[in-house]
Amino acid sequence: MGALDGKVIFITGGAAGIGRKCVEAYLAAGASVSVMDCDRTGLDSLAEEFAHLVTFAGNVRMGSDVKRAIGNTVEALGKIDVIHNNAGIASPSKSLDETSEEEWDNLFSVNLKSVFWTTKYGIEFLKQTRGCILNTSSLVGEIGQGNHAAYVGTKGGMNALTKAMALDYAPFGVRVNAVCPAGVWTPMLRKWSGEQPEPASIAQYLDGIHPLGYCPEGDVIADVAVFLVSEAARFVTGCMMPVSGGAELGYKR
Ligand SMILES: NC(=O)c1ccc[n+]([C@@H]2O[C@H](COP(=O)([O-])OP(=O)(O)OC[C@H]3O[C@@H](n4cnc5c(N)ncnc54)[C@H](O)[C@@H]3O)[C@@H](O)[C@H]2O)c1
Repeated sequence: MGALDGKVIFITGGAAGIGRKCVEAYLAAGASVSVMDCDRTGLDSLAEEFAHLVTFAGNVRMGSDVKRAIGNTVEALGKIDVIHNNAGIASPSKSLDETSEEEWDNLFSVNLKSVFWTTKYGIEFLKQTRGCILNTSSLVGEIGQGNHAAYVGTKGGMNALTKAMALDYAPFGVRVNAVCPAGVWTPMLRKWSGEQPEPASIAQYLDGIHPLGYCPEGDVIADVAVFLVSEAARFVTGCMMPVSGGAELGYKR
């Protein structure tokens, strides 16, 4: 028996990176999965590889797209037990004063306002199933990061929102948690590496920030995500779960 047998999971940004690893893990644990992503090619390759999956092309910035994808999910799969807000962007690598208004608005729309949309259109379905919400946040929302002010702002906001939502929806039996990775090798991280002042030394740097000694792939996040959305975590809510190889620990040089 799988840990997620019979569950219906709606995930954003599931066509690549951490989201894709979560989709694979959710399916392996017995769930039916609905994936919303703006990358049609990525969605097609996902649908080719896996059965028990529905996909919707759409942009999480747009309330109308989110509303349609959630409505279609319930139509196709009958209910929603889990909303996993995973879609996110990290660019630009800039301090706040260097960030343009457009860059700020884009980051906040994709990374944070998307949670507003999925909650607005999805919470009634979660109340019906006494389901849960999982947010892919980031360790930097807790500890900060140089040269990424707007991104860090979105993830700090996501952490605060996770706690506020956990309180608001607890009376309905709906849990709200976040996973907080440090570095994870994904298309986003590879793009980010290329934008850094010394891309060649980035792999070594990324291994070094994790006391466990290496920068992982998305499977480490997916395994924790399966736990947090499963019955095994039935008494866990409002939790920012670091999945960081200890990156937040100890004094830094
Ligand atoms: N990779 C890391 O090191 C790392 C670390 C901490 C947190 N995170 C967080 O993990 C999440 C996933 O990151 P990733 O590294 O897997 O990224 P990725 O770029 O590899 O994958 C993100 C996916 O989200 C989709 N997406 C992006 N914008 C979208 C939009 N507006 N509408 C719909 N879909 C959209 C992309 O098409 C892609 O399939 C993000 O929220 C990110 O902030 C990543």
